[in-house]
Amino acid sequence: MNGKLFLFCVCIMVFLNIETFPQTDVNSFNLMPAPVKISYSEGKYRITKDFTVAIKGNSSERLYNASARTVQRLSGRTGLFFPEFSGAKSDNASSASMIIETDKTGALVLNEDESYSLDVSAQNVSLKAKTDIGALRGLETLLQLLGADENGYFFPTVKIEDSPRFPWRGLMIDASRHFMPVEVIKRNIDGLAAVKMNVLHLHLSDNQGVRVESKIYPQLQKLASDGNYYTQEQIKEIVAYAAERGIRVIPEFDIPWHSTAWFAALPELASGSGPYKIERKWGVFDPVFNPSKDATYEFFDKFFGEMTALFPDEYFHIGGDEGTKVEWTANKDIQEFMKKNNLSGIHAMHSYFNLRILKVLTKYNKKMIGWDEILMPEMPTSIVIQSWRGQKSLFESAKKGYMGILSNGYYIDLIQPTDFHYLNDPLPDTIKLTAEEKSRILGGEATMWAELVTPETVDSRIWPRTAAIAERFWSPSSVKDVKSMYARLDRVSVQLEELGLTHIKNQEMMLRRLTNNNDTKALKTLVDVIEPVKLYTRHSLGVKYTSYSPYTRVVDAALPDAKIARDFRNDVDDYLLSSKNNTEELNKLKDQLLIWKNNDAELQKVIKKSPILNEISDLSKELTEVSEIGLQAIDMIINKKKPEANWFIVQMGTLKKDGSISFGQSELMIVTAVEKLFAAANNFGQN
Ligand code: ACM
Repeated sequence: MNGKLFLFCVCIMVFLNIETFPQTDVNSFNLMPAPVKISYSEGKYRITKDFTVAIKGNSSERLYNASARTVQRLSGRTGLFFPEFSGAKSDNASSASMIIETDKTGALVLNEDESYSLDVSAQNVSLKAKTDIGALRGLETLLQLLGADENGYFFPTVKIEDSPRFPWRGLMIDASRHFMPVEVIKRNIDGLAAVKMNVLHLHLSDNQGVRVESKIYPQLQKLASDGNYYTQEQIKEIVAYAAERGIRVIPEFDIPWHSTAWFAALPELASGSGPYKIERKWGVFDPVFNPSKDATYEFFDKFFGEMTALFPDEYFHIGGDEGTKVEWTANKDIQEFMKKNNLSGIHAMHSYFNLRILKVLTKYNKKMIGWDEILMPEMPTSIVIQSWRGQKSLFESAKKGYMGILSNGYYIDLIQPTDFHYLNDPLPDTIKLTAEEKSRILGGEATMWAELVTPETVDSRIWPRTAAIAERFWSPSSVKDVKSMYARLDRVSVQLEELGLTHIKNQEMMLRRLTNNNDTKALKTLVDVIEPVKLYTRHSLGVKYTSYSPYTRVVDAALPDAKIARDFRNDVDDYLLSSKNNTEELNKLKDQLLIWKNNDAELQKVIKKSPILNEISDLSKELTEVSEIGLQAIDMIINKKKPEANWFIVQMGTLKKDGSISFGQSELMIVTAVEKLFAAANNFGQN
């Protein structure tokens, strides 16, 4: 282009205000969730100690506080002593480093506008949003953009336009099976806000405990909670804390089943004759509210009257899952009631119960949400279905006119790998639904059931995998590159620590306790390549867990989706895809296998001093053996020697039927990679 033409083009572009930044791959940068649109130009906004923020237009207290927290986090990461945060509405905002502009204060309701645009130039930062909640989402993006080089800290010069794909993006925390104190809930609210989630669903009652103080029925907290419950003041504190971060709080009282604990306090409302006490075991149990008694509905009228006043959200969750017919069948009065009211069977009775509860909730201006068992033709389409048993019920609900959210596939208590959850989409591209039906699918929730977690370990099951789930709910469906997700997740995971989350740091503390304060290095080396067994297998390996079991063993310190093991599996895959005689890559694999092979000798010394580790002694020996097999396979690859037939199977004598090795309810996560090395030796070798 000649000079005159270039100048002409630039003038036209300036005149028409055309973007000069090229559109960039959303997988670039370390943003999670990835934004809808990002464009980038070579450039940096340099952060200095003079960094200031001004808020223009509408300024809510929430936005002011969020901006102050953002500046504090920036200061914490950079070590820069910024001027005291003023953030005050400023008519002379143009001199500020960063200007935030919003039109109005957002409401904490479904479908509130959360969009924002962020424009970082070399001179300043501009964040614009319709609502202050949108601005909060943008502040989290800005914090993730922070970069560093030899000249200091900077934000890359980007333009971002962003808004969520789904309006309901949440996490459920089960505070009943193991009580989760306020500080656990608060730090997880911060984590949710950091990845742009907007719903915290609290599972507040189950067989093992009712967890909210009632002023009308104080016997509930006295007899049904072991003293572990949220006071009403604490609930208000949690709700306010979440609201400050643009997060709705949905309470769940799981009825009519999952209810043994209630009957420790209110046996007269049960369908059976008792006696009832707080359940200590895990599983599905028969105790259920008596749906034929007016007293049951009178109780819920009063109790929900209290609870609905505490939780301002328009939705209220009544559970409704996993019904058994035992107590209803055995109770003559209930059978009589069913006959008289033409209710044939458990579903009809459940539906009757739900409709009466719906009346109570409607009186308190609440909309009902429940697990997919409450999807019954008698229920009005105003209810929301939370689908846990399969996507089918979600799509069925949408076709029948119900709104729904997906939790099936987001059960983070099952210790499945991040990519499994990440690729699970509430609304897959292939789904055959009309546009209207699609609009009824509101999003999803990750579910943190608490049979096997305590306040000490719960963060490590929630994070960082929930950040990847948050991306599924926020980002366009086309954002699904697993490699990019893992790369960004590693970085976000560390950033989440600044919010007080313990998902990384608690492991070291647990290892110290496990080793009886001896050297943790060898145990850490083993823990890095193991994961707890998946799904509900932990309950069927000879250990009967209860609410008072220790959740402090090696299996509890082991993390889901163990990174070091995953990296090794990826390295083996990369090697197998690359030129087969890449000795550099083979040597890297060998070095790693050697460390693992030699680990047992060190770890056995520690096991002798700490009997709690006895159960992983065999697992440690297996790591040595599997590593030895891997090393032999690599030698065969290098020497082009074909292994004997059945060599791998014979060597791996302890391999389980499904190809895994597990002891102490933890499994070794490098077995498949070693098997691949063996297959490669078999393929390349010559007899
Ligand atoms: C559930 O997992 N029973 C909702």
